[in-house]
Amino acid sequence: MAARVFAFLCEKGGAGKSTGATNVASYLARLGKRVLIVDHDPQASASTWSNFIHENNGPGEIAVIVMKKLQRDLRSVSNGFDYVIIDGQPITDAVTVDAIKVSELVIIPIRPSGFDVWAGINTAGLVRERQQLTDGKPAARILVSQAIVNTVMARDVAESLESYELPLMDSRTHIRVAYTEVASVGKSAMDLPPDHDARLEIEAIGREILEILG
Ligand SMILES: Nc1ncnc2c1ncn2[C@@H]1O[C@H](COP(=O)(O)OP(=O)(O)OP(=O)(O)O)[C@@H](O)[C@H]1O
Ligand SMILES: [Mg+2]
Repeated sequence: MAARVFAFLCEKGGAGKSTGATNVASYLARLGKRVLIVDHDPQASASTWSNFIHENNGPGEIAVIVMKKLQRDLRSVSNGFDYVIIDGQPITDAVTVDAIKVSELVIIPIRPSGFDVWAGINTAGLVRERQQLTDGKPAARILVSQAIVNTVMARDVAESLESYELPLMDSRTHIRVAYTEVASVGKSAMDLPPDHDARLEIEAIGREILEILG
C-alpha cells in the first residue's frame, strides 16, 4: 500500500515544523508504523536528531532522507513506509509547492503570539490555491504551536487566526521545556512518562492526524 504523506509547512523559522515532524514520527513508530521523514530544513534538524540513538522508537521504524524533487522521486523512496512526513523549510519556493502537491494533509504550525500570528499566512494562501485547483485537496490544518499556558492569547487564538481561512486542529502544543530537552538528545516527547503534558499533547496531535487521514 502506498505511504500516506503529510507535511509540516510554515515559511516562518522556528514555528515548530521539525518538532512536529519528529515527535509525530515517534508517535507513529510506537504504533508499529514505518515512518520516513523528508528533511527540507536547511539546518537538518530531523537528520541530526535521527543520528542520535533513540532506541525506544520500536516496534516501528524512523528513517530520514533529504530529497527535494518530491514529485519526481517520492514514490520510489517511500516504498515500504507507512507514512511520509515532510519537515518543511522556512522559506517558500518550488520545493514548498512540490511538498503541497504530494501531501494529503498540510499542517501549518503557528506560534500564537506577537508578529508570529501572521507568519504562516503565505503558506496558507498557497495551500488554499492548491485546494481550489484540486477539489479541496490537500486537507489542511493550523496547529497552534508553543502556546503559553493560561494566557488570554492562547485561549482566544482562534479569532486571531481567522484570516487563514483554514481550520484549527483541536490539539496544540504549549511551551514546555521538555520538548527542547528531548530533541537535543535524539529523543521525543514519547520518551517522557505517560502522564507528561508534552507527551499527552503529541499523542493528541498524532491521533488527530490519523483521524484526518482516515
Ligand atoms: N512546544 C514547545 N515548547 C518549547 N520549545 C519548543 C516547542 N516547540 C518547539 N520548540 C523549540 O523551538 C525551536 C524551534 O522549533 P522547531 O525547530 O520545531 O521549528 P521549525 O519550524 O522546524 O524551525 P525552522 O524553520 O528553523 O526549521 C526549537 O528549539 C524547538 O526545540
Ligand atoms: Mg525545522
